[in-house]
Amino acid sequence: MAPSNPKEVSGRHAADLVQSGMTVGLGTGSTVFFTLQRLAERIAEESLQVRGVPTSVDTERKATEMGIPLASLDEVERLDLTIDGADEIDGDFQMIKGGGGALLREKVVASITEKEVIVVGRDKVVDRLGLGFLLPVEFVPFSSPTVAAVLRGLGSEPILRLSDGQPFVTDNGNHIFDCRFPEGIADARGLERAITHVPGVVECGLFIDLAHVVVIGDEGGTVEVREKA
Ligand code: A5P
Repeated sequence: MAPSNPKEVSGRHAADLVQSGMTVGLGTGSTVFFTLQRLAERIAEESLQVRGVPTSVDTERKATEMGIPLASLDEVERLDLTIDGADEIDGDFQMIKGGGGALLREKVVASITEKEVIVVGRDKVVDRLGLGFLLPVEFVPFSSPTVAAVLRGLGSEPILRLSDGQPFVTDNGNHIFDCRFPEGIADARGLERAITHVPGVVECGLFIDLAHVVVIGDEGGTVEVREKA
């Protein structure tokens, strides 16, 4: 039976964009999970030749279990294609990412990718970023008070991300503030620049000008593919 879950149709559709011989960035999250599944199927059924570069320890583990060959960043210069999820994406393809905590590695991988394909359900497509989802900011634990103060000065309420009552620790050993912007984010480009300049901040979940294609899954099993002009 054809899948009807928007994440599944989107994730699987994007995996079909991969061609033999490609080096592919493997994003993180519940939508990319279906991409990994479909890639593993294609490797088994079509002898698809790919190398994947994972953006998180979680994706590395899942891809390994599924039999997807992996490469590390020091083995590749550029990636042909990356398939990643998003927490919000707007009409200009600007995004909030980092709901799963993998924003730093996701942004590094996106920065060396020829074509960044974003897989989402329709609910992630928004008019203005930051109204429905808090903005993740990864920072070095030592700098917590000073980073929080600057984030407040930028108009947000930073909330320390917790896991089992303790600060959430990223794959890089850092912590995350999830920042509430009561009016949403009017100037995503300017805000990203301001946040990433703060000493102690490692990365910000605003992804500016990094996405080229968005694959939007709908209830009922259809997809819409938008390409950046
Ligand atoms: C990981 O840190 C995030 O950037 C993910 O890409 C995003 O949260 C994916 O969301 P889904 O799990 O809904 O695909």
